[in-house]
Amino acid sequence: MDFFTSRADHASSDDHAPIARQRRKIIVAFTGATGSILGIQTLIALRSLNVETHLIISKWAEATIKYETDYTISNVRALADHVYSINDLSAPIASGSFRTEGMLVVPCSVKTLASINSGICDDLISRAADVILKERRRLVLAVRETPLSTIHLQNMLSVTQAGAIIFPPVPAFYIKPSSVEDLINHSVGRILDLFDLDTAAFERWEGWKRN
Ligand SMILES: Cc1cc2nc3c(=O)[nH]c(=O)nc-3n(C[C@H](O)[C@H](O)[C@H](O)COP(=O)(O)O)c2cc1C
Ligand SMILES: *[C@@H]1O[C@H](CO)[C@@H](O)[C@H](O)[C@H]1NC(C)=O
Repeated sequence: MDFFTSRADHASSDDHAPIARQRRKIIVAFTGATGSILGIQTLIALRSLNVETHLIISKWAEATIKYETDYTISNVRALADHVYSINDLSAPIASGSFRTEGMLVVPCSVKTLASINSGICDDLISRAADVILKERRRLVLAVRETPLSTIHLQNMLSVTQAGAIIFPPVPAFYIKPSSVEDLINHSVGRILDLFDLDTAAFERWEGWKRN
């Protein structure tokens, strides 16, 4: 049956190598909040850092990618090592026995935040996130909404108490950005800092500059 054989198709060749020799594995999910370019640039950065990526794109993330960027969905899928349908709850990343370092949801809608907070697990994004929390791995949610209601704030507090990290992609003006790309690179760089990955694609604060 498909259900049982699909596991082997998804498995990477080095799955049985000692953990130290394996590539780092990170799950990346895109949801339908505005800012799909942040997810795309994160995927590009992970690729250049040689991290193995496991990608899930929600239906509304597909819509925002098409509306907000020049990327096609197949361009975006090609940036990842493994891509799963959001409806495939038999995917390896739906189980804690498949080891990854953690998961990034970039951008994260308040709907997906709410699903994760309530433990619904009815799609692969909320299920994979639930697995990350139960296995005490790293979960970073780039929640994008403004202004925030009590519901959003309570959900953010509660997932933080469960171990997630809320990373709202808010711009840092101290970098004196000369382009939107500067702001994107800074946000992506700070997100990946949370996994101890250094993109080296943005300037770090080192105190006031002389001029
Ligand atoms: C153009 C566009 C922009 C949106 N921006 C946001 C946003 O910034 N934050 C948010 O929480 N939802 C936003 N939404 C609504 C979500 O797409 C919607 O709640 C959807 O159900 C999210 O589902 P998903 O998390 O499975 O992708 C936006 C929708 C559209 C069409
Ligand atoms: C943003 O980062 C990418 C690498 O991820 C780099 O190629 C590009 O030059 C950076 N852009 C700016 C404006 O620093």
